[in-house]
Amino acid sequence: MTVNAPVNIALIKYWGKAQVHPVRPSTPSISLSLKGLDTTTKLTPADDFSFTLNGEPPSDESLDRLVRFIRQYTKDLNVHVESVNAGPTAAGVASSASGYAALSLGLKTMFDTHLDWAAFVEKTANGSGSAARSLLGGAVLWDEDGTITPVEFNHANYQMAILLLSRSPKQMSSREKMAASTKLPEFARWQVRNRLRSTRMMEAMARDDFSTIGALMEASTLDMHALTALDPFSPPYLTKESIHLWHAVREARAKGLAMYVTADAGPNIKVLFKKADHDRVVPFLKTFTHPVLVHDIADEGAHVCA
Ligand code: DP6
Repeated sequence: MTVNAPVNIALIKYWGKAQVHPVRPSTPSISLSLKGLDTTTKLTPADDFSFTLNGEPPSDESLDRLVRFIRQYTKDLNVHVESVNAGPTAAGVASSASGYAALSLGLKTMFDTHLDWAAFVEKTANGSGSAARSLLGGAVLWDEDGTITPVEFNHANYQMAILLLSRSPKQMSSREKMAASTKLPEFARWQVRNRLRSTRMMEAMARDDFSTIGALMEASTLDMHALTALDPFSPPYLTKESIHLWHAVREARAKGLAMYVTADAGPNIKVLFKKADHDRVVPFLKTFTHPVLVHDIADEGAHVCA
């Protein structure tokens, strides 16, 4: 059986767990699923276990996490898994989200067809919190109670570009940095701010108010990176080049090109813009010599292919 799930990029960030098992986020988060940047996973029932990611065995650390995840569905690990990412793996392009969403759907379909939706979402989030959002297409809210809901948004009008500053895996997993952030006194204030932003974001998305959507996305992004900066010994995710590009986008925006920036647990920069502006935005982004991936917003979340 083959399953596929899209990557999703958060406009309102998930950064912190209120509960580790089952995973519950400390604030709501809101994302867009991206078409064409996805994970395709083939599962074959077997007497033993094997796993490959892009044709290679995963690292010991990734394998431990995968095995714990797969045991939620098959205690004896009776499955062979071959997973392939269309984009770069573990470089802040959300490949763990698409990877765990695809794997979760494949395992449910193979071992637990009657699993109810809430339990399925919960199991998926135990792999990676952000993976829960890749179960749906379009704009998705992952709420503090662990549920996912479609957010009213005319997503067909938008595209997202990813400027690939790095393809190499990140130094420190977002999981550890996230856990460190939750111990900070500032964390409670981040929660208040990010909850308010998520409510305002849903209102702005419903009325297609792009300048508010963009401003809230940039604010949630900078606030998340500011929290990570409060741990003085851990290197920042954003590099000089990420910040340089962000400034360049802001300058072009001040001159009338409507586009907004986000960034996750890595140096890559993601730019949200209206499809109508594609022919002005994409050539501008290409002047920076980094590879530029341009994606529509996916209509469909995780699904069984065959
Ligand atoms: C910066 O979903 O990777 O991409 O639940 O610990 O696996 P775990 O975290 P993960 O964190 C994603 C963090 C982020 C923001 C986001 O996608 O909302």
